[in-house]
Order: sequence, then structure tokens, then C-alpha cells
Amino acid sequence: MSNILEVKDLKVSYGAIQAIKGISFHIKQGEMVALIGANGAGKTTTLKTLAGMLKPAGGDIVYMGKQLSSIKNYDLIREGLALVPEGRGIFGRLTVTENLEMGAYSRTDSKEAIQADIDRMFEIFPRLKERASQLAGTMSGGEQQMLAISRALMGKPKLLLLDEPSMGLAPIIVQKIFETIREVAKDGVTLLLVEQNAKLALQTCQRAYVMDGGKITLEGDAKELLHDEAVQKAYLGE
Ligand SMILES: Nc1ncnc2c1ncn2[C@@H]1O[C@H](COP(=O)(O)OP(=O)(O)OP(=O)(O)O)[C@@H](O)[C@H]1O
Ligand SMILES: [Mg+2]
Repeated sequence: MSNILEVKDLKVSYGAIQAIKGISFHIKQGEMVALIGANGAGKTTTLKTLAGMLKPAGGDIVYMGKQLSSIKNYDLIREGLALVPEGRGIFGRLTVTENLEMGAYSRTDSKEAIQADIDRMFEIFPRLKERASQLAGTMSGGEQQMLAISRALMGKPKLLLLDEPSMGLAPIIVQKIFETIREVAKDGVTLLLVEQNAKLALQTCQRAYVMDGGKITLEGDAKELLHDEAVQKAYLGE
């Protein structure tokens, strides 16, 4: 399988603070890869950089064979790169249905195809169907997370970047969201998953990278990392 994403020696700074200190990793087409690590490790910064929201201070990002920097930010969704940000990123003043329609804005296929996908999201998350005409900003945290993921999927992404999808959610909702993440992966969407819940992330993904202080300190098969003593001590609370 070819790499959908290749990152080499990436450096990202906020002013004088270097948050990412030269990381290299890759994701193969169709893979589910987890990025775990303590608070402040640089996970969100990495995802924001991949989504074009932050400019690298150095290094190289190749997405689907192209330099990421050669793709205009507004073209990224059309190129299949979608981020579900930490804190969700939905339009609070729009209804659930309007948010899903917005998610499909870059698509050029028929209205019917888009409607069919909205129906599919409603099937996956019946709660969203019940709340179709509710303003997104008035929904609960879990409902907003379901909507954020559904909205991203409406753009038919090739590479979906998920930042802390389980944050602040009840265990039952987390299960539901992870079920959906696994289904999405079966449909051929490649996933980069950032999670505080390292155990769940390692159980869900095939491979993982561990970040600490802006660097990748460990990488490997997710199941192996799950049983790694150092990982267990530092990230799994065991
Ligand atoms: N806008 C910013 N300005 C200055 N420093 C920032 C900014 N955003 C993040 N940082 C710093 O960069 C480092 C990495 O932050 P980042 O948000 O990427 O961490 P994270 O791994 O996502 O952590 P968490 O698990 O808490 O979400 C932190 O030290 C943080 O304080
Ligand atoms: Mg973060």
C-alpha cells in the first residue's frame, strides 16, 4: 500500500516556542493510526499543521504525492483532507441538517447523492435525525461530537484527522463514536486519531506514534504498544 501521508522532520513554532521539534511519520492508504501522548505533547499542533491551519517552520509534508504547501487551504477538503478539531468545529447557529449540508459543500455529485449520505448519517446517529432542525449550538456535547464527525464525513474525506473524539463524553457515547470510526475505516477512509484515551486508541488503530515534548518518542504496532511496559506506565495508568 502506498503512503497517503508522509511527514519528514516537521517543525512547528508558536513565536519563539517550538512546539514540534522535528517529527517524521507516515500513514498508509486505508490505515488507522493513533497519535497519543501527554497534554501539551504537540498532538493538536500536528493535526492543525496537517490541516493547513499552521505553517511549518521546517520539514516536509507530502499528501497523496503532493507537497501539502502546494495545496491551497480552501482546496484541502476537495482533496479529501478533513479535520474534526478539538472542541468540535460545527456551526452553532445552523441546524443539524444545515451543518451536514455545509459539510458537503465541496462535492460536485448530485443533490440526491448528498441527501443519501445525510440519510446515512441519520441512520448511524439516530439522535441527529431526531434533532435535525435543532440549532447545533444548543445540542449536548456528545451530540455535537456526533455532528462534527458526520459533517466531516459528508465531505467524503480520504484522510480524516480526528482530534480527541472522546473528550468529555459518556462511555456509551464514546463506544458509539468509536464504532462509527471503525465503520468509516472499513469504508476505506484513512484515519489519524489523536486521543487522550490511549487504551481505546491503541485498541482501535493498527499502528501508533507516541509524542512527548514535541517529539515522537515511540512508534509501532498498536497492539504491541498496548502491552509495552513503558507505555502502560506512562499512558495507560497501569
Ligand atoms: N496558540 C499557541 N500559542 C502558543 N503556544 C501554543 C499555542 N497552541 C499550543 N501551544 C503550545 O504548544 C504545545 C503543544 O500544544 P498542543 O495543543 O499541540 O498539545 P496536545 O498534545 O494537543 O495537548 P492536549 O492533549 O492537552 O490537547 C503546548 O506546550 C502548548 O502550550
Ligand atoms: Mg490537543
